[in-house]
Amino acid sequence: MITRRDAAAPRWTAVVLGWATLSCLLVPAVSVKHENFKTCDQSGFCKRNRQFADDATASSSWVSPYALDAASITFKDGQLGATVLKTLNEGEEKVKLPLTVTFLDSGVARVTLDEEKRQKGDIQLRHDSQARKERYNEAGDWALVGGLKVSEGAALSEQAEQGYTKVFYGEGGKHQAVIRHQPFGIEFQRDGETQVKFNERGLLNLEHWRPKVEKPVEEKKEGEEEKKEGEEEKKEEQPQGEDESTWWEETFGGNTDSKPRGPEAVALDISFPGYEHVFGIPEHATSLSLKTTRGGEGNYNDPYRLYNADVFEYEMDSPMTLYGAIPFMQAHRKGSTVGVFWLNAAETWIDVTKQKTSANPLSLGVKGHTDTHTHWISESGLLDVFVFLGPTPQDLARQYGELTGYTAMPQSFAIAYHQCRWNYVTDEDVKDVDRKFDKHKIPYDVIWLDIEYTNEKKYFTWDPLTFVRPDTMHQHLDKRERKLVAIIDPHIKNTDNYPVIDELKKKDLAVKNKDGNQYEGWCWPGSSMWVDCFNPAAITWWKGLFKYDSFKGTAPNTFIWNDMNEPSVFNGPETTMPKDNLHFGNWEHRDVHNVNGLTFHNATYQALLERKKGEIRRPFALTRAFYSGSQRVGAMWTGDNLAEWSHLQASIPMVLNQGISGFPFAGADVGGFFGNPSKELLTRWYQAGIYYPFFRGHAHIDTRRREPYIPGSPYTELITQALRLRYSLLPAWYTAFHEAHTTGAPIIRPNFYVHPEDEAGFAIDDQLYIGSTGLLAKPVTSEGADSVSVYIADSQPYYDYFDYTVYKGAGPHTVPAPLEKIPLLMQGGHIIPRRDRPRRSSGLMRYDPFTLVVALDNEGSASGTLYLDDGETFNYQQGAFIHRRFNFDGKRNILTSSNLDNASRTAKLDAYLKTMDKVRIEKVIIIGAPKAWKGKDSVIVMEEGAKESARRKSVAAEFHEGKGKAANWLVVRDPKVGISRGWKIDFA
Ligand code: GLC
Repeated sequence: MITRRDAAAPRWTAVVLGWATLSCLLVPAVSVKHENFKTCDQSGFCKRNRQFADDATASSSWVSPYALDAASITFKDGQLGATVLKTLNEGEEKVKLPLTVTFLDSGVARVTLDEEKRQKGDIQLRHDSQARKERYNEAGDWALVGGLKVSEGAALSEQAEQGYTKVFYGEGGKHQAVIRHQPFGIEFQRDGETQVKFNERGLLNLEHWRPKVEKPVEEKKEGEEEKKEGEEEKKEEQPQGEDESTWWEETFGGNTDSKPRGPEAVALDISFPGYEHVFGIPEHATSLSLKTTRGGEGNYNDPYRLYNADVFEYEMDSPMTLYGAIPFMQAHRKGSTVGVFWLNAAETWIDVTKQKTSANPLSLGVKGHTDTHTHWISESGLLDVFVFLGPTPQDLARQYGELTGYTAMPQSFAIAYHQCRWNYVTDEDVKDVDRKFDKHKIPYDVIWLDIEYTNEKKYFTWDPLTFVRPDTMHQHLDKRERKLVAIIDPHIKNTDNYPVIDELKKKDLAVKNKDGNQYEGWCWPGSSMWVDCFNPAAITWWKGLFKYDSFKGTAPNTFIWNDMNEPSVFNGPETTMPKDNLHFGNWEHRDVHNVNGLTFHNATYQALLERKKGEIRRPFALTRAFYSGSQRVGAMWTGDNLAEWSHLQASIPMVLNQGISGFPFAGADVGGFFGNPSKELLTRWYQAGIYYPFFRGHAHIDTRRREPYIPGSPYTELITQALRLRYSLLPAWYTAFHEAHTTGAPIIRPNFYVHPEDEAGFAIDDQLYIGSTGLLAKPVTSEGADSVSVYIADSQPYYDYFDYTVYKGAGPHTVPAPLEKIPLLMQGGHIIPRRDRPRRSSGLMRYDPFTLVVALDNEGSASGTLYLDDGETFNYQQGAFIHRRFNFDGKRNILTSSNLDNASRTAKLDAYLKTMDKVRIEKVIIIGAPKAWKGKDSVIVMEEGAKESARRKSVAAEFHEGKGKAANWLVVRDPKVGISRGWKIDFA
């Protein structure tokens, strides 16, 4: 088996020579190495806080030792300040913790709790460490970009109540924070009803600074064994009954963390009364509705972990950490969605438990309900939490997006199909794959180069033997408007004759080890150093490396893939950096770990913006590691999955979860990274992959080639069909991306988001809606299936996308799904824009005409939107876009197109509209057409601004009677109305 550590793949020449022998040896084993990653029990602060929770729960006399000092309260400009006192040693000592509660204009509240001693730097570090003394307070600098305007209307309640402080905030003062003084806790209410509770269970725990009391070294007694790795120190005296064994040092996997600041965890219990479902906190390979984590059948034993890591061969159905972290959780019940955002970049664990209260048979009206309790534990940093009170899932998406930014508007190619593998081995290979796609008439937009394109894993170089002419390769791709994505990782090879490492060292821009020297570790290139993108000077330097005259051989159609940015360090603890490494500003790696990937991805995004003066194009950069805010700078994928059905299955809830967690531009490796998928699995994966917002096929270096033209008939045709379906729906996808970009709405949406009142559908995570189109897809994720069960939440008709069979009535419906059929329904009431002419790439569809699919609802009405722009520049920010609303009025039988944004006319808009002037609608299909239309053979079309003679014209139509359970439909052929103009089609 090839492992991470020995996988620093040799040069291609050598690979080719040794291929036959190697390929027998390189069969990947398929299970995660549990021993490489900590469980809560092996992570000192997690274990301590879980123990704390157990002790608190077990004791009936437990009182949280935190109290708010009422005399310290101040309230000014929407912000409450106070000191929380932590009592130690039975009241003898009190630790001062400055509290701020900020009430934001958006109706969101932010609570921060710091520690006075550390804030003032009044502590001593051990081991002569140069680390910062404060609790890390800069996560917000990376994650937050807005939404921080404080509420002017927030006001302290005038009704004083003993032991409480109350603040009204939010629109019309609907929200209320009830701050309990002793023990300290907060309840967040909406319209008088409590939605979120802090410290209800008394698990707040901020590990204050204390000096290490050196204990006399005891002599080893005879017969006593040496302490083994991972084994706790023998407990001696423990003044507070606390487990001190991991306060000052912690060893795991042969690495010792020196912990110069001692124990410094922050933890808090957050409860959601009356909420049975919680979602979010990606990235985990788990269900959308989060399971509980304190054992019991079907539940987890460990908390959900957030500690970005390169988890080789990750396992399914697990709370184990993966590559990215978004500490945003939402709780949902009928009529309400609320949430919290735990702004902390350190290693974090989250326990979830549920408490059921059954209905009381004796008192009528007392309904049963479930409360969800969560326990958040971070290793260091501030306690900094945002509380969202909804009340709808859309409100949460918007409010969280206001804070952390909405997803970037991608170039249009970026939402088409990407073809990747590790590796296309030469420039000729790339051209050959490209030609084969064309030969088989399979659309694709982007071909990718993995690490082997470089000269011995030196990024920003090309292997001189295999990529001889990158320039002509790019030109070749550009002929069909295709792009190339090249990988650039954050580890820089530590070798001679490589200007990039020389500069990194000379300019002192690398991450440091605990002693303040440039840190050296092991990754693909062997010995490497890591660019520290927390440092503004490193970002400036990084930008320079991407200029066309610096990264020679690249062109405007080159884009970038950032991998291994957790960061992955093959010889580091848990395959990442030591926690006592130092970043810019002397923050320990411990403090910033989860945000590290974002800083690197951000630097690459910035670099792509500035490759050439005057050339301003929307960047495309893919990342593996992420944090809240990463959505502003690119796309993500779910890392190294396996070519197995279970991984295909898991990808749907994982990508859905990304969507509701503010980072919707997400996808999984189609086909599965490790292993060779069967042809059926590959076909099903493409049929599912067309629903990933980020849609890329990828494969490990040891796998067989599997480009869509490889499997042969009928698989190649079926995959082509799936790809063409994605391509024809690109206008609908682009519109969904625009919605995400402007409102934070997910691109693919789970049932609960679309039908927030439908309790039976809250946990459904194996089917999805595409944007606001009403398209409901149920990917086939099991072997040998010939039908699927699609859950319908409402009483609208749902039409089969291909044959218009009608499914009606809330509940499950069996929909045929033999291999040649993709289960896809259209909810009545929507109008879906498509482009039906098959092309080789999306760029070649730019001026193609549209088809409008009108799926009528129970009232015979429907509506939909279309957003279009040049798909490339930022001109849309200056009004250069088309945004239409289509409406079919079932009473008057009129279909209209009207302008959705009354943007003022700008030169950029005029120029854009000119390019789109001739783009028309070539077909309208009305599904669910009334019987009365039988025999109708024409409709009247009226276009605004058309010539007098063409203003009112009759256009041919055909009525079709649906057979069996299929709906009737009517087709209007070529009404020739402009996509950018207003018009009406009269069906009366
Ligand atoms: C990592 C990535 C994978 C890539 C490989 C080589 O495993 O997750 O996608 O192919 O590195 O760069």
